Amino acid sequence: MSLLLIVNGTGENWGPEPWLRRFRERLPGRHIEIASDQGPAKHGFRYAAVWKPAPGYLARCNGLEVIFNLGAGVDALLKDATLPDLPLVRVVSEDLTKRMTEYVVMHCLMHHRRQRMLDEAQSRAEWAAKDQWAASAVRVGILGLGELGQDAAEVLVRIGFDVAGWSRTRKSVAGVTSFAGEAELAPFLARTDILVALVPLTSDTEGILNRKLFTGLARDGRLGAPVLINAGRGGLQDEADILSCLDDGTLGAATLDVFHEEPLPPSSPFWRHPKVTVTPHNAADSDAEAISDYIVAQIRDLESGQPLRNVVDRKRGY
Ligand code: NDP
Ligand code: OXD
Repeated sequence: MSLLLIVNGTGENWGPEPWLRRFRERLPGRHIEIASDQGPAKHGFRYAAVWKPAPGYLARCNGLEVIFNLGAGVDALLKDATLPDLPLVRVVSEDLTKRMTEYVVMHCLMHHRRQRMLDEAQSRAEWAAKDQWAASAVRVGILGLGELGQDAAEVLVRIGFDVAGWSRTRKSVAGVTSFAGEAELAPFLARTDILVALVPLTSDTEGILNRKLFTGLARDGRLGAPVLINAGRGGLQDEADILSCLDDGTLGAATLDVFHEEPLPPSSPFWRHPKVTVTPHNAADSDAEAISDYIVAQIRDLESGQPLRNVVDRKRGY
């Protein structure tokens, strides 16, 4: 069966040619082609594996049965109102999950252990010995307790943080307090010192990281003021509110991996803000080989009569 690749990625690993090589190696004898979404539609392909295809292109390709997204978040694809009504499969892989957990844990620890303050002290050759509280004194709140949020939560619990999560439906994760739905957002925020955003970007969550939400975070924590870590999507955050909340002390610090405009323009105040740590949307920079293995395994399972896994619920938007 045939596979069409539409990949708007750059760099050594994410350009279309390396993807073509990967799928041809794994699916020998199959018809696999790259399409340019600026060119004519391609017909008669059963599968499409895509990364940020131009809106409207997939609708013009007749014969598709399944669309595989080459990443975990599908917000960019779902913005395309013409996206064919076919099963849309997203990436859920141990490789991606573990990388996100590394990121979340590293940044929670960085804020908890005041590493930015120590770096500054070092730049002045200052021996800044200060009391350090235990992880159990810090309440981490994970906004979005799904595949990524749950794994990060488990490791944070193991380190000793006091961890809670918020999701649409209630979860049972050992050592993690689960808050569910709109009604439990306020109590979740009220017990949170470090807020980690890992919700998908949907019509319900767009702009959720705003002044109103930050004002609801705990004011009595050991960090002095609450901290934001956004590793979800830039569209979740109100960037002007983050800046003004950092400036007036509503937030004590922020780690931001995602932005409205990516790459973050050099003129952005986030680059030079003393309370902000910027990373280039690499929280879970996943391995293209692992993603290829995952998609090929799904194709083989489907063709042997098993159901697709990790199919996006188009109504929920994730
Ligand atoms: P999942 O779908 O597994 O989890 C999403 C979680 O968010 C679920 O717990 C879900 O609740 C919850 N949620 C969604 N909408 C709402 C809502 N309106 N109210 C309350 N809770 C809500 O996604 P993943 O964990 O796999 O990924 C999360 C996001 O991380 C991706 O969508 C993507 O945007 C981002 N991401 C970022 C990367 C990076 O490098 N920065 C890399 C990979 C992903 P419920 O379980 O009840 O449905
Ligand atoms: C993803 C991402 O969604 O890398 O996979 O952001």
